[in-house]
Amino acid sequence: MPPAAPHEAYDPQGQKTVSRSRCVMTEIVLPNDTNGLGNLMGGRLLHMMDKCAAISTQRHANRVCVTAAVDSVEFNAPIYQNEIIIAESQVNRVFHTSMEVELNVWAENPRKQTRRRCNRAFFTFVALDDEGRPTEAPPIYPQTAEEESRYEAAAKRREMRLLLAGRLNLGDAQHIKADVRAALSEQQPDA
Ligand SMILES: CC(C)(COP(=O)(O)OP(=O)(O)OC[C@H]1O[C@@H](n2cnc3c(N)ncnc32)[C@H](O)[C@@H]1OP(=O)(O)O)[C@@H](O)C(=O)NCCC(=O)NCCS
Repeated sequence: MPPAAPHEAYDPQGQKTVSRSRCVMTEIVLPNDTNGLGNLMGGRLLHMMDKCAAISTQRHANRVCVTAAVDSVEFNAPIYQNEIIIAESQVNRVFHTSMEVELNVWAENPRKQTRRRCNRAFFTFVALDDEGRPTEAPPIYPQTAEEESRYEAAAKRREMRLLLAGRLNLGDAQHIKADVRAALSEQQPDA
């Protein structure tokens, strides 16, 4: 029998864990991928990030999943020609039919033996049934403290993006309201 793929090694109870959804993609930046300054073009990176996220969601949901939304993507540092791009994605949380995927991107320079983090972004994907309609995705089980914290934070980000997309009323945004209440109560003078 072939050895288990790394993402299967963390799944002792056969549960759908975050680590099972993880995807790492590695690419080298060639001249055709760059702009006039010799830096990787943003669109090329987004394409790679979208594919990486799609693999994570399909590993998790075992279905076709499509990109529904991409949160603000920041290009914090340029990636240069001949450098190696490493994109890593994982499903942070499943809601109903939608999932939040976190992407982290690093640039590696093999000659200088350096690696720096360049990007982080959150993508929302929706699982589709055989007729192309949104369908429930299976729940995901965070296992580490870091995965738990990402799972919790994902619920708040979801409210923010649905609010901005006009899909949620502020009155129904439970996490945001709780945060505002906590911030206001901190400002109250002692009774
Ligand atoms: C994504 C898509 C399937 C959603 O269809 P829809 O008719 O809006 O479906 P629903 O209203 O049932 O929403 C489905 C889920 O998407 C989520 N969603 C829809 N728009 C969203 C947005 N802008 N931001 C975050 N989540 C969104 C909903 O909250 C819902 O999540 P939930 O089931 O976990 O609560 C549909 O818009 C689509 O097919 N878009 C094109 C996808 C595509 O081709 N992507 C790649 C090309 S860029």
